[in-house]
Amino acid sequence: MIPFPHDIFTEPADVDPDTLANLGPLTRLAGRWEAHKGVDINPKADAPERRVFIERIAFDAIDPQTNGPQLFYGLRYHIHITTKEEDITFHEQVGYWLWEPATGLILQTLAIPRGQVALASGQGKAGDDRFSLTATRGETQYGICSTAFLEYGFRTDSYRIDIAFDGEDAWSYEIRTMLAVHGRAEPFEHHDQNTLKRVGPAKPNPLMQIMARRAKSTPAKP
Ligand code: HEM
Repeated sequence: MIPFPHDIFTEPADVDPDTLANLGPLTRLAGRWEAHKGVDINPKADAPERRVFIERIAFDAIDPQTNGPQLFYGLRYHIHITTKEEDITFHEQVGYWLWEPATGLILQTLAIPRGQVALASGQGKAGDDRFSLTATRGETQYGICSTAFLEYGFRTDSYRIDIAFDGEDAWSYEIRTMLAVHGRAEPFEHHDQNTLKRVGPAKPNPLMQIMARRAKSTPAKP
C-alpha cells in the first residue's frame, strides 16, 4: 500500500511556525559547532591517507517547508574543514537536514563541490540520542549522483552517517562512504569521524524572528 494521501495538493492548515520547537531528533544540532581532532581516511595513489582535521559547522533553522500535505522542519548546514598544516579547504559541504514529524523520516541532502550530491534517509523521533542515515548509488529516492569523472575514477556506491549526542553541547558522527576506485579490486572505505563541541546557540528561524520583531514594534493595547 502506498503510504501517501489521495490529495497531494492541500497543505496542512495548522503549521506551527516555530522550527526550533519541532525539529524532533535534530533539535540539538541547531547552532554552531567546532572540533580540532577529526580523522579522515581518504584514497590516494600509493596508499590510504589518514589526516587529522579542523571542522566548523553551522546549522541554521529554516522556516517550515511543505510538499502539499507533507510537512518538514529543518536546518540548513555548512561544513568547512581545514587542517593544521594547510589553511586551504580540505572538505566543504552544504545541504539540509529535515525531519517529518508525521512519519519520523529524517533526510540529509548533501552537496560536495567535487561534483557530487546525495539524499540520505533514516528514521528518528524527538529525544533520540542516536540515529543513522544512508544513501545508495542507483536508488532513485535516496541516492547518490556524481560527475562522469567520479563515476569513472571514484564511483561512490554508498554513504552512511551515524550520529550520537552527548548531552546538549557535544555530538559525534561517523561517516562511511564506499568508493570503487578505478583499477582497484577491493572497495575503499572513505571514513570520517569527529566529535563536535558547541560554540554558538541555536537561533530562531526567519519567520519567528520576523514575528518577534513585529510583536516588539506593535504597541500593547491599553
Ligand atoms: C568529514 C568529511 C570528509 C572529509 C574531511 C573528506 C576529505 C577528502 C579528501 C581529503 C579526499 C582526497 C582528495 C584528493 O586527493 O583530491 C577525499 C576524496 C573523496 N571524497 Fe571525501 N571527505 C569527506 C566526506 C566525504 C563524503 C561524505 C563523500 C561522499 C558522499 C565524499 C566523497 C569523496 C570522493 C568521491 C572522493 C574521491 C575523489 C577524489 O579524490 O578526487 N567525501 N575526501
